[in-house]
Amino acid sequence: MNLPALPPLSLYVHLPWCIRKCPYCDFNSHEMRAGADAEAEQQRYVDALLADLEASLPLVWGRPVISVFIGGGTPSLFAPERIERLIEGVRARLPLAPGCEITLEANPGTFERERFAAFRAAGVTRLSVGVQSFDDAHLKAIGRVHDGAQARAALQEAARAFDTFNLDLMYALPGQTLAELEQDVRTALSFAPPHLSIYHLTIEPNTVFAKYPPRLPEEDVAWDMLDRITELTGAAGLERYEVSAYARAGHRCVHNLNYWQFGDYLGIGAGAHGKLSFAHRVLRQVRHRLPERYMQQALAGDAVASHHEVTPGDLPFEFMLNALRLKDGFALSEFSARTGLPAERVRAALRQAEDQGWLEPGGAGLRPTARGFDFLSDLQQLFLPPG
Ligand SMILES: C[S@@+](CC[C@H](N)C(=O)[O-])C[C@H]1O[C@@H](n2cnc3c(N)ncnc32)[C@H](O)[C@@H]1O
Ligand code: SF4
Repeated sequence: MNLPALPPLSLYVHLPWCIRKCPYCDFNSHEMRAGADAEAEQQRYVDALLADLEASLPLVWGRPVISVFIGGGTPSLFAPERIERLIEGVRARLPLAPGCEITLEANPGTFERERFAAFRAAGVTRLSVGVQSFDDAHLKAIGRVHDGAQARAALQEAARAFDTFNLDLMYALPGQTLAELEQDVRTALSFAPPHLSIYHLTIEPNTVFAKYPPRLPEEDVAWDMLDRITELTGAAGLERYEVSAYARAGHRCVHNLNYWQFGDYLGIGAGAHGKLSFAHRVLRQVRHRLPERYMQQALAGDAVASHHEVTPGDLPFEFMLNALRLKDGFALSEFSARTGLPAERVRAALRQAEDQGWLEPGGAGLRPTARGFDFLSDLQQLFLPPG
């Protein structure tokens, strides 16, 4: 392979602690140990992150960073002073592009809300608030530690403290009706969120819900829910620019867009994944997963648990897995620029996708049709390597 130029670069920072583990969650998140000295642990964790970043610099020398995403876990459990030290440490080591988006994921607990303005002052430009639902019974059923009133208060504060923010919802929750989902979406829209992400609740392996499955809405009800979501968000002036993401003009998430456009990202923190391109190869890395192990390893300058080069045979599927999530699709020239492969490599699969009515000319070049969005995983699988 031969890349004509390197793609834009983002930075992902993983903060792995939560108050309590939600029964549906398979992210690398761990309950904070009761009685642990949280302040000392957070300080040490930030030291580890900066050591990790320092050791990674030779892989990204001189490349400007277009976005930073501090995700989790529950990053809002970190005190604003710690987030400030982290952001300052990142700025001191990496050239952040002018106007660089810096997102922090926040949960809507009361003591987190009181910190939103301080996060802004610490350099965070965009908050992503994990609301999931406003309905107390549903929040309880999915094991959340906050209630609907706290979610509302958090959103008011997010709108006050930030020029832009994201609101995360989930739908097809245990026992949820279409009318209840509609109420959640209407409540969300009443806060005029510049950006909304709405995910179908999925039962992930190795979670409490996988072991004790809750009763979920029927599939056709979930499809009706998605139709209502699309109608209500559209009427409120939000555009569905990605399968699960809706935004007002000028408020798309730069960081996630870079993932979907198969850009590069350095991932630091426990269990973080990274993808980095070089002239003749694409490298994937994973950091040590358990927070304690990660801290030890990162402080010793050795945070990477595993890495591998993506084979040219896997690149078309990896590119399409991301690009086909975008309503505007992609240009064939972008495919070649990001993978170093000729468009010829995907010509047959593209023709098949068009024949199925899943892909059409338009947008950036080729874009998924409404039907293509409905059958997204079938569409993506057309690009799997043969055999
Ligand atoms: C990793 S979580 C972190 C945000 C924050 N800790 C929270 O829980 O709100 C990011 C988002 O992924 C979504 N999510 C997590 N697990 C999911 C699941 N099993 N199915 C669908 N969406 C999920 C939720 O909407 C959540 O806000
Ligand atoms: S708060 Fe978020 S990251 Fe933590 S366990 Fe729940 S869903 Fe997962």
